[in-house]
Amino acid sequence: MNLILLGPPGAGKGTQARRLEDTRGLVQLSTGDMLRAMVAEGGPLGQQAKEIMAAGKLMPDELMVSMIAERISKPDVKNGFILDGFPRTVAQAEALDAMLAEKGLKLDHVIEMRVVDDVLVERITGRYTCAKCGKGYHDVFEKPKVAGVCDACGSTEFKRRADDNAETVTTRLAQYHQQTAPILPYYQGRGVLKMVDGMAEIDEVTKQIEAILVS
Ligand code: AP5
Repeated sequence: MNLILLGPPGAGKGTQARRLEDTRGLVQLSTGDMLRAMVAEGGPLGQQAKEIMAAGKLMPDELMVSMIAERISKPDVKNGFILDGFPRTVAQAEALDAMLAEKGLKLDHVIEMRVVDDVLVERITGRYTCAKCGKGYHDVFEKPKVAGVCDACGSTEFKRRADDNAETVTTRLAQYHQQTAPILPYYQGRGVLKMVDGMAEIDEVTKQIEAILVS
């Protein structure tokens, strides 16, 4: 099964994709994570990604398309994948269609996670992850069971993303509305677009997604 989780920054794409990885054995393909790995490696491309992401702008389509083309050629995606953060423009969506057709693959569902902007700002500015294992938390919505200790690995070190500040979030939301939202009618026209209420509690959103996957 091949899916796209589509939604604005903070809609819960990463949260739900990680759950689907665990429950369904699908591979999460997060372009944001790939870019953050590129930044950590350094080099000119990493520096470019660092600056563009810190400004809340989008990376060039050609780079993102070649990154995904390379990734979906790897053997671990053969049982299915979840695209998280890609496509983000109509040009990326068109390129994805062409690359899937070339590989004889198809998209089963494109799931829009709908959340209003005010809630997104609160979600993103409160988000943090374990510095050791990467498990995600939130100051209000998803706290560790023991304060200051990671549930998964016991680490006491946490980190926040450089672009998770109120100013950058405003730009990221504007980019979403201008550049990414036009993808929705694109997929609606292909009959694969479904919608979930991303404002619901995390478990409830998971249930809504599962209902789509078994439909
Ligand atoms: P990326 O890393 O993809 O960030 P994003 O799309 O802005 O999305 P986020 O990861 O911020 O949010 P999410 O929807 O995964 O939410 P999460 O599950 O964490 O991209 C970063 C940057 O990289 C971009 O700005 C761009 O520069 C560049 N980039 C990436 N891909 C690109 C591409 N294809 N083309 C060009 N540039 C690209 O949830 C957020 C928080 O809310 C968490 O704390 C979570 O616990 C909480 N939460 C989740 N769901 C719920 C719920 N239902 N109720 C309450 N809390 C919830």
